[in-house]
Amino acid sequence: MENGKGQFKNTFGFLMAAVGSAVGLGNIWGFPYKMGNGGGFAFLAIYIVLAILIGYVIMLGELTLGRNSGKGIILTYKELSNKFTILGVMGFLSPYLILSFYSMLGGYCLKYSLSNLVAIFNRNAVIMTSDPGEYFVSFFSNPMMSTVFTLIFVAATAIIVAGGVSKGIEKFSVIAMPLLFVLLIVLIVRAVTLDGGVQGLEFMFKPNWEAFKGTGWISVFASAGGQMFFSLSLGMGIMITYGSYIPKEQPIAKNATTIIFFDTVIAIMAGMIVMPAVFAFGMEPAAGPSLLYISLQNVFQSMGAWGPLFGFLFFFLVFIAAITSSISLLEVLTSSVIDARVAKNKSADRKKATIGVTVAVALLAAFVSLDGLGTANMPHIFGQGTWLDTFDLLSEGLMMPLSALLMSLIIGWHLKDSFLEKELTLHGNKFPARKFTMACFKVIAPVGMLFVLLGQISNFFGLGWF
Ligand code: PHE
Repeated sequence: MENGKGQFKNTFGFLMAAVGSAVGLGNIWGFPYKMGNGGGFAFLAIYIVLAILIGYVIMLGELTLGRNSGKGIILTYKELSNKFTILGVMGFLSPYLILSFYSMLGGYCLKYSLSNLVAIFNRNAVIMTSDPGEYFVSFFSNPMMSTVFTLIFVAATAIIVAGGVSKGIEKFSVIAMPLLFVLLIVLIVRAVTLDGGVQGLEFMFKPNWEAFKGTGWISVFASAGGQMFFSLSLGMGIMITYGSYIPKEQPIAKNATTIIFFDTVIAIMAGMIVMPAVFAFGMEPAAGPSLLYISLQNVFQSMGAWGPLFGFLFFFLVFIAAITSSISLLEVLTSSVIDARVAKNKSADRKKATIGVTVAVALLAAFVSLDGLGTANMPHIFGQGTWLDTFDLLSEGLMMPLSALLMSLIIGWHLKDSFLEKELTLHGNKFPARKFTMACFKVIAPVGMLFVLLGQISNFFGLGWF
């Protein structure tokens, strides 16, 4: 019980928590259409290569840094060198910003799940009788309603985190993740047996070389790289924080591989629900939030008597995926606040720390909700746009790839081989492909992350660099 913060009880618990963090909204609506647009199986092959060359080493680096220090993100970097503290601060700010909009989107899922549940018993419930597009607009532009659901989501996240590492996060994840898996299977069976559903599978899996013509392959790379990196929850101290709770005898290298494997498999499985459903009902596969809340809701409405049941199950699944991600985000903040308390010779007091960070998160999340996806005409730093996009740009677009890039340089050039070697081989565990992994840290991952960083900036500002 280092610093009174607790540890994961066993490997399974840690894996469920880490896979839970990785599997989230990104897997469900980002991966399937990027795969479809980026060349189907060809995209998948590139995604896997990037996940091994870049995702694996960054995951390995973060878990190792965390387990070695036993501290949260800020102190982990500060203890390496004072000049690295800024990385810790960026890694603290990113989850704070992400939580603001992630909680809002998670709150929407909760609302949709409950509304579908009600509709199981009452076919005339509003969600069944209204146009899905209008229903969605009326929900997110109603500040009270959307803020209430956002705050319920924040509170649920906080309750789990306040419970502690093994009694809160781990306990919740070992129930939630297997449940998520079962829901995935039930919904895949329903989706692929829909009339016309097979077209969705074709869209996702069929090799499509068109996407690679000319300079197209560069944008496929950038899109796969960005997706891989966000989907694995890298670049913001999550894996450092979770790493700090792994007992010394657990094999980090093996665990990193397992997390990447499951995150990818679950993204593909989620695609096998979303794409067949979208195609069976003739909808647009590459939509943003409207994919979930309009297109898929439309599918459930058109399914007849079973629609509300599948709607309930689907949104409940997304809600679980979102909450196991948001607890990891909140834990990054909580863990660093606990470190700060301990450094001041105060008690660890996890509950107090959780309440403190939750209040700060709730305020920012309420702000993003009140913005109503830009419909509230709130003042904005870019003159116009949604605060969701802005906070996303600052975190996912800039700070996260930048921190991941710098972290691989620090491990590759500053800490060198011996640091990883020592931590990874404790208790007779293995550090496989050591030379190759170090080459990835020194050159391949930093170059890859630079590419992701430029891709994100170009996408956001529509610069068309790639
Ligand atoms: N990995 C999560 C997803 O795919 C998102 C996430 C990113 C969660 C970063 C936490 C941190 O949706």
